[in-house]
Amino acid sequence: MSNIKACLFDLDGVIVDTAVYHYKAWKRLANELGFDFTEEDNEKLKGVSRIESLNLILQWGGVTKTDAEKQELATRKNEWYVEMISHMTPAEILPGAKEFLIACRAAGLKTALGSASKNSTTILNNIKIVDLFDAIIDGNHVSKSKPDPEVFLKGAEAVGVAPADCVVFEDAIAGIQAAINGGMKSVGIGSPDVLTQADMVVSGLDNMTIEKLQTL
Ligand code: G6P
Ligand code: MG
Repeated sequence: MSNIKACLFDLDGVIVDTAVYHYKAWKRLANELGFDFTEEDNEKLKGVSRIESLNLILQWGGVTKTDAEKQELATRKNEWYVEMISHMTPAEILPGAKEFLIACRAAGLKTALGSASKNSTTILNNIKIVDLFDAIIDGNHVSKSKPDPEVFLKGAEAVGVAPADCVVFEDAIAGIQAAINGGMKSVGIGSPDVLTQADMVVSGLDNMTIEKLQTL
């Protein structure tokens, strides 16, 4: 019998797919700076914080900027991104995500969000599932990026559950490593060939059940 008492969820790629919006905004910025940015590059930015993403993009474009200029560029990208996510609706929730959150709560499990995004609350409000989380820990609360476990340890603490009794749902390798580094169990969302370190991998939350959780 499993001792899981809390489920901690990454946002992008687990509950919604905002990667396309991040891509459009970063591409616009790169184009303004005079270089291009492919969808393949965008894959490398999943789970990476805003400023670290900018540093990588500038590096790929061979462009050097001061810290003040970087702040301005990151703000500009975020304004475009925020405009795009302001149009998000509940229709964009990934299949099974809302149903699984409801099932967790019905089973008496705590739920928390653990995301690098500083726009998490805006997104959860727009897709109308903010009430399904007991705690929201995001980029505004942490200083270290995944694979550092900070975001998930703070989530566990916020819901009053020991890390060993938590399971993390993640689509990024760095997120699975963050769970491991925090002493938590993990369920990978995606391909078992990629998320090899996860305790279990499902293609999406529509393939996850409380019964499967209890086998962890
Ligand atoms: C998530 C996404 C990343 C994004 C990061 C910061 O982890 O996967 O692509 O860069 O959040 O998002 P923000 O909304 O704070 O710019
Ligand atoms: Mg993710």
